[in-house]
Amino acid sequence: MTNAPLKVAVLISGRGSNLQALIDACAQPGFPARIVRVISNEPDVFGLERAAQAGIPTATINHRDFPNRHAFEDALHAQLVGDGVEFICLAGFMRILTDIFVERWLNRLINIHPSLLPAFKGLHVHEQALEAGVRFSGCTVHYVRPAMDSGPIIVQAAVPVLQDDTPDDLAARVLLAEHKAFPLALKLIAEGRVTLANECVMIKGAEMPRLPLLNPSEE
Ligand code: GRF
Repeated sequence: MTNAPLKVAVLISGRGSNLQALIDACAQPGFPARIVRVISNEPDVFGLERAAQAGIPTATINHRDFPNRHAFEDALHAQLVGDGVEFICLAGFMRILTDIFVERWLNRLINIHPSLLPAFKGLHVHEQALEAGVRFSGCTVHYVRPAMDSGPIIVQAAVPVLQDDTPDDLAARVLLAEHKAFPLALKLIAEGRVTLANECVMIKGAEMPRLPLLNPSEE
């Protein structure tokens, strides 16, 4: 007997390219998760159109319509519970969530961040990476914890930083990596292969990647 797919909500604030990667992954036969709702805190963003085109129910919960963060998050929570959501993916969701919300959804809430955490938290991540002169950057999918851009790391993908990169060049290269990393993390979780031990993620049957990735390469 196969398990029912994990019921997922994706929270967005913008163009939703990561949302699209998750939609495409969930459309694959046998993918162990299903997106039951897409919620945006910003009205009229392209991500909502992507969801509608895929036939996924959407909701706009505009934080500006609420007197404070708690009231906004109560509305978010009510929508999620009403939809029978079991798991939340933050895909470019640009609101900081309070400890109360994070605790309510603890270990059922993941985020994607466009750097190799714990390096380069917050905003202007690619500028930070270029200023630091790192040879690699990338992205991180992690469980959400109350402190911003922290929490157990599930998947990371590395990309080289090139000498002439602008922040936009690097962002575009990292974004391609994000579109692989986020569906992979969701799949591993939905397959029940991810466990936590002392706030570190263990993945059953994880494959060793090819090594080493050098930048510049030897050849
Ligand atoms: C991504 O770079 C993501 O890592 C960050 O916000 C961006 C969202 O892009 N948190 P998109 O809306 O998924 O295209």
